[in-house]
Amino acid sequence: MEIYIVVTCNFAYTTTILFLIFLSILIYYLVIKSQNYTKSKYKLPPGSMGWPFIGQTLQLYSHDPNTFFSTKQKRYGEIFKTHILGCPCVMLGSPEAAKFVLVTHSHLFKPTYPKSKEKLIGPSALFFHHGEYHSSLRKLVQSSLASPYNLQKRVADVEALAISTLHSWLTAQDQLVNTFHHLKKYSFDVGILSIFGHLDSNYKDQLKENYSIVNKGYNSFPNNVPGTTYQKALMARKRLKQILSEIMLEREEKKIADKDLLGHLLNFKDGKGKALTRDQISDNIIGVLFAAQDTTASVLTWILKYLHDDQKLLQAVKAEQMVIYQENDEGKKPLTWKQTRSMPLTHKVILESLRMASIISFTFREAVTDVEYNGYIIPKGWKVMPLFRNIHHNPQFFPDPQNFDPSRFEVPPKSNTFMPFGNGVHSCPGNELAKLEMLVFIHHLVTQYRWEVVGSQSGIQYGPFPVPQNGLPARFWKESNNFIQDFFPPN
Ligand code: HEM
Ligand SMILES: *[C@@H]1O[C@H](CO)[C@@H](O)[C@H](O)[C@H]1NC(C)=O
Repeated sequence: MEIYIVVTCNFAYTTTILFLIFLSILIYYLVIKSQNYTKSKYKLPPGSMGWPFIGQTLQLYSHDPNTFFSTKQKRYGEIFKTHILGCPCVMLGSPEAAKFVLVTHSHLFKPTYPKSKEKLIGPSALFFHHGEYHSSLRKLVQSSLASPYNLQKRVADVEALAISTLHSWLTAQDQLVNTFHHLKKYSFDVGILSIFGHLDSNYKDQLKENYSIVNKGYNSFPNNVPGTTYQKALMARKRLKQILSEIMLEREEKKIADKDLLGHLLNFKDGKGKALTRDQISDNIIGVLFAAQDTTASVLTWILKYLHDDQKLLQAVKAEQMVIYQENDEGKKPLTWKQTRSMPLTHKVILESLRMASIISFTFREAVTDVEYNGYIIPKGWKVMPLFRNIHHNPQFFPDPQNFDPSRFEVPPKSNTFMPFGNGVHSCPGNELAKLEMLVFIHHLVTQYRWEVVGSQSGIQYGPFPVPQNGLPARFWKESNNFIQDFFPPN
């Protein structure tokens, strides 16, 4: 995922210049070496490699990444080479190329993340693996998170979390809610719910506090100096492992065979009948928390902004949700699974928000061998980057791409042009849960609340995913009852 670069971008600090020069020379030789490919039948993709090592990373980060990619794409086409973080890299801007890497030839490309990130999340987590371990574990995670049966069971609990989150926003007048920050609490709680089912609040608080320290470490400069954000994150990571061990021990003592993700992980046996180790289980739990929290919270924050910016659309979404709200006796009866399946406009708003915001702008893989694609060679060891955001903003697939228009999803997008949850073997197993979480939240938000965004309304901040400036500070009110009469006037 994109978080990758934000960390390493810090390399640009001038204190490391000497080191950089040394590395540049080293890598320059590697680049020259790789140019031997031009003599073979296949050629390297077009593109300029920029300065060795620093490559074009600085350019990438000093500009809107969208502009960076599309300028290159105009010049070189759907596939071009460049340097990112000192690694030669091939960027892929077409649905066909992304499908080649992620789906049809995924066995030739393995995931690749910096070691510092792997250490924080845990090296046995799904993202980092390729092959047998990945596919068997993924099946388990997928069936636990995404089976319709398990999702249906979650509706009531997710709804309770949405209600209490929104209620906590009705603070004294003039108090601003940092929308993103608070939505992170919601998405964390939903993550905890799907991993542990109901978890003792003591454990929950300990996990929450320590995880938030780990979370800060994802985007800090990795180093060995005690007291730094990264080191604090590593210490908190150790405490998380202890807490998770205690929870597992307790479960085993009580012999509860729970049907949540932890239960599934504890019962897992591979083809040879071998169970997972404690470390493998905790790495995967932290991996899921990591994958579930900032992603969903960022998208929901964008949705609040898009709805706020388009009052007409907001009214239409309200109208759709009010019908369900009335069906449920003004919220006295719980939302049903079936109701969450019949929110067509709200669903399209979610899809369009996923497209517009494209919070996971691209991902990384690494070629495990020399790979030929469309007459080009991608040398072994090179990184490849499918550019999701570029594809989502290509007018060929999404006309007038900067315009927020949910109705474009009335017809399904062409295959492999819409990949907010990735594609292929590593695509997101939490996508249905994330959508459910957003639908339920929007239902309660628009039927019972009004909100006003405060301050600058146009900036974007990367934390690490793009979110509106300052996390979209806003004021929330409970909707007055008159409003209900607007929709259902007494005869
Ligand atoms: C709107 C919210 C979300 C978005 C946009 C999103 C997006 C993605 C994307 C693009 C990938 C693939 C990354 C790649 O190919 O390199 C991914 C993987 C993953 N996601 Fe999500 N995700 C979201 C929510 C969630 C939730 C709620 C969960 C779990 C509860 C989750 C769990 C995972 C896991 C475990 C993986 C790794 C799968 C693997 O490597 O096989 N995600 N997600
Ligand atoms: C982290 O976890 C430990 C238990 O290992 C707990 O005592 C502590 O209160 C938690 N929170 C913080 C901020 O350390």
